[in-house]
Amino acid sequence: MSNRHIATPNDFRAFWMPFTANRQFKQNPRMLVGAKDMHFTASDGRQILDGTAGLWCVNAGHCRPKITEAIAQQAGELDYAPAFQMGHPKAFELANRLVDIAPEGMNHVLFTNSGSESVETALKVALAWHRARGDGSRTRLIGRERGYHGVNFGGISVGGIVANRKMFGTLLTGVDHMPHTHQPARNAFTRGQPEHGGDLASELERIVTLHDASTIAAVIVEPVAGSTGVLIPPKGYLQKLREICTRHGILLIFDEVITGYGRLGAPFAAQYYDVMPDIITTAKGLTNGVIPMGAVFVTSAIHDAFMQGPEHLIEFFHGYTYSGNPIASAAALATLDTYREEGLLTRAAELSPYWEEQLHSLKGCPHVIDIRNTGLIGAIELEPVAGEPTKRAFSAFLRAYEQGLLIRTTGDIIALSPPLIISKEQIDQLFDTLRKVLTQVD
Ligand SMILES: Cc1ncc(COP(=O)(O)O)c(C=O)c1O
Repeated sequence: MSNRHIATPNDFRAFWMPFTANRQFKQNPRMLVGAKDMHFTASDGRQILDGTAGLWCVNAGHCRPKITEAIAQQAGELDYAPAFQMGHPKAFELANRLVDIAPEGMNHVLFTNSGSESVETALKVALAWHRARGDGSRTRLIGRERGYHGVNFGGISVGGIVANRKMFGTLLTGVDHMPHTHQPARNAFTRGQPEHGGDLASELERIVTLHDASTIAAVIVEPVAGSTGVLIPPKGYLQKLREICTRHGILLIFDEVITGYGRLGAPFAAQYYDVMPDIITTAKGLTNGVIPMGAVFVTSAIHDAFMQGPEHLIEFFHGYTYSGNPIASAAALATLDTYREEGLLTRAAELSPYWEEQLHSLKGCPHVIDIRNTGLIGAIELEPVAGEPTKRAFSAFLRAYEQGLLIRTTGDIIALSPPLIISKEQIDQLFDTLRKVLTQVD
């Protein structure tokens, strides 16, 4: 007899949960058993308002019939097709549809299965592109403090979150980091882009001087850093990064895993901020979070440099068993249809003034030391409990959940990013609940 425990719905031991306080969770599990539009249903039957679009991914709201039907139909028609040396129509159709909404010039798409894989793919494209052009000494990658680029080795190397890096050895070599742009002392309670900190982009110039441009392949940043607590780019910052990269022949990668697909009120942050990178990584909202899928956009200049040599040879030795998977492609196509039919790729632009007003009305609530916003993203930074960082925000998260609201916290920052279908009444409800919660936490 195997000594493996037979799982029951009440046995939580086997599943080692991701980015979760496992022991705390398993003593008092928060189980979601259903979802529709703006709400989850908890296992005790309560309706939970989704203040985070799941994990920044369910942009069109939950269980949208068009998407679920497309998945079911595809699963019965063509469940899987080999991704290498074979094709199926929906992956090509999807790539074309994505190019249509992407910033001008982003003409080619590589498919992945997650944000982390999109980042690895982008970094590899950047390194290989320089080499394909005979510039193989460009091997350094530059990220940023407090950057989050997923959890694979490339992503944690260019990322700048200490807890995600320190347990895992030496990571990739030849990586350097720019300073982050969070300057609460100068920018607290800014609405939209902060006034101060745009000059921090010149730190890239210092790094280029240190290593020499001829050794640097790419710079990767989130246009808006999400996972470290919503750091909005100061005025002029992204433009200056672009200018420095162009001047030194360095590729600029925007990690738009969070900002992609309408979060800011334009399809991509590159359009919203009017700064054109060379590569864009996406995932999450691509399929409305329903099926794992990511997409990496590259310019023709990048793509075309690989299309040389004998035509029977593979041009880029990279890809995944599930790149452009038929069911994921069908889900993404139905998601794009839904976004288009309901104007969701730009709806955040209409809603954001109301969102901003309600969010900033929490100024003056207990513990609140900063509030910031862009598009349909908001952050409320709390004064940490002395000697116990993260405790206060986590307690707010638990209390909000008890009161029917899902929020997300990182450190002592509450991050909000509801589905793009949220109504004004639901925005009111979200902030009324939070106002109450803030008076309840110690
Ligand atoms: C900017 C950014 N890049 C990459 C990732 C990783 O995505 P995934 O969890 O799908 O691997 C995330 C996830 O939150 C992200 O916010």
